[in-house]
Amino acid sequence: MPIPTHVGIIMDGNGRWANKRGLPRTAGHKKGTETLKKVLKTARETGIKVVTLYAFSSENWSRPKEEVETLMNLFRDYLKNDVNELLKEGVRISFIGERERFDDDLIEKMNQIESQTKDLNGFHVVLALSYGARGDILKAVQQLAQKVKSGMLDPNEIDMGQFSSHLSTAQIPDPDLIIRTSGEQRISNFLLWEMAYSEFYFTPVLWPDFDEKEFKKALADFELRHRRFGNIS
Ligand code: IPE
Ligand code: IPE
Ligand code: MG
Repeated sequence: MPIPTHVGIIMDGNGRWANKRGLPRTAGHKKGTETLKKVLKTARETGIKVVTLYAFSSENWSRPKEEVETLMNLFRDYLKNDVNELLKEGVRISFIGERERFDDDLIEKMNQIESQTKDLNGFHVVLALSYGARGDILKAVQQLAQKVKSGMLDPNEIDMGQFSSHLSTAQIPDPDLIIRTSGEQRISNFLLWEMAYSEFYFTPVLWPDFDEKEFKKALADFELRHRRFGNIS
């Protein structure tokens, strides 16, 4: 039974979940953090090694100020409280995205959690915060261009491995499975380079309603996929 090594999750549908109940969108985001805890527990028990969670895109900064503020406070609460459970269990936690755009206390917390867990090699949780794949790719291009300019790098030496090593996901294997909740069937600037050969699972279930049973359904679906990577089976 093939189990994905790395699962990427686009956690979408919090706002619609709340709207359906006549609640403010923020109630959906709150409920969404509960889903997150359950899903991580199941992932770990199943033997998945890495989970990357798309929690906030670089484009999400354009949402109304109040919503962005609530999300920031939820991240703050998550990083200062909820995350302790993972830390106690020896989970490695890292962050991808434009960290510099967050408030100082959040940056400090992210740096601290990351350095505290960097040598752990069990279950790895990657939080994509203010992440956008195009921005990440551009940053890699700029770094490579700088190296070429300074004479450190011959342009002909730039291969896929060299390129990947300049992305924020350098230390992480490519995702085997990408799950998106809420019925939208798009990528919304998530892991573009890394998902070249990922399997996709789209479900209409809204993120706050996504539970262990739904997650297992996605994993069962993955088991039936025939991955060929361009070869013949
Ligand atoms: C996902 O839920 C969470 C974030 C993008 C921060 P949404 O907030 O996008 O919820 P919908 O898609 O509007 O229902
Ligand atoms: C994608 O959801 C980003 C996250 C889940 C963090 P969005 O709700 O922002 O995506 P679009 O706008 O529907 O593409
Ligand atoms: Mg959405």
